[in-house]
Amino acid sequence: MALNTCLIITGTFLIMGSAVTSQDESISLSLFDFTSSDNVSDWTEQSDTVRTVGKSKAVFVMQETQEFRRAILFTLLNPQSNGAAFAGVRIETVMNFVGLSTIHINCRAQGNSTGYKIVLRHDGENNEPYPTYEQFFEAPMSSEVFSTVSLPLANFTAYYRGKAVPNAKPLDITNITSFGLQVYGGVYGAIHQSGVSSLEVNTIDVSS
Ligand SMILES: *[C@@H]1O[C@H](CO)[C@@H](O)[C@H](O)[C@H]1NC(C)=O
Ligand SMILES: *[C@@H]1O[C@H](CO)[C@@H](O)[C@H](O)[C@H]1NC(C)=O
Ligand SMILES: *[C@@H]1O[C@H](CO)[C@@H](O)[C@H](O)[C@H]1NC(C)=O
Ligand SMILES: *[C@@H]1O[C@H](CO)[C@@H](O)[C@H](O)[C@H]1NC(C)=O
Repeated sequence: MALNTCLIITGTFLIMGSAVTSQDESISLSLFDFTSSDNVSDWTEQSDTVRTVGKSKAVFVMQETQEFRRAILFTLLNPQSNGAAFAGVRIETVMNFVGLSTIHINCRAQGNSTGYKIVLRHDGENNEPYPTYEQFFEAPMSSEVFSTVSLPLANFTAYYRGKAVPNAKPLDITNITSFGLQVYGGVYGAIHQSGVSSLEVNTIDVSS
C-alpha cells in the first residue's frame, strides 16, 4: 500500500494591501495505486454467496500490458426474486483517516450496472454481526476515459444486510479495518440492478 503525501500550494491572500502567499496544506494519501505499486493479491470476494441462497459472483484481477496496469472488478448479479443481490471484494487493512475528508476513486465502468458502493468496516468489526459503513456512487460509464468520483467520509452510513441502521455508532475513521468495492441488486432502493458489469480502477486516494 502506497502512503504518499504531497503538499499542494493553492492559496494567495491579500491582507491589508500587501500580497501574502500562504500555504494551504492539502494532503492526499494514496490508498491503492494499481497503476504502479499495488496489486489485488490481498483482496477477497464478498458476494451474496456468503448466504445459502446467493448466486452472484465477483472477481478482482490485475490487467497489465506493455503500456499500463490497473485492476478490474468483474461482477455478475443474479438477484433473488425480491431483487436482493450483491457482488464485490474487500481487503482487510488498518487505515487512519484523521484529518482527511474525502475518498477519490479514479475508475470507469461498462455493462449493465452503473451503481456501486464503497463498503468500510472499523475497529476490527469485519464480520457478522456488525454493520457495514456504505456510500453509494454512480460509476462513470465509459470504455474510453477514466473519471474521478469523490466520496466524503462524512457520507458513509451504517447498514446491516442492506437496511440502514440509524442508531449505529458512527464510522471510526481512526481505525478502518476493511475496505470494499461492491455492486448491488438494490433490494431496498429505487435502483434495481442485475447482470454483468466491469469496474476498471486506476487509483483510490483520500484527501483532506
Ligand atoms: C502483490 O504485492 C505484494 C506487496 O507488494 C507483493 O509481495 C506480491 O508479490 C505481489 N503479488 C503479485 C502477484 O505481484
Ligand atoms: C483497531 O481496532 C482493532 C480491533 O478493535 C484493535 O485491535 C486495534 O488496536 C485498533 N487500532 C487502533 C489504531 O486503534
Ligand atoms: C454528502 O452528503 C451531503 C449532505 O447530505 C450532500 O449534500 C452531498 O451531496 C453528499 N455528497 C455526495 C458526494 O454524495
Ligand atoms: C440489465 O438490467 C436490467 C435492470 O436490472 C434488467 O432488467 C435486465 O435484465 C439486465 N440485462 C441483462 C442482459 O442482464
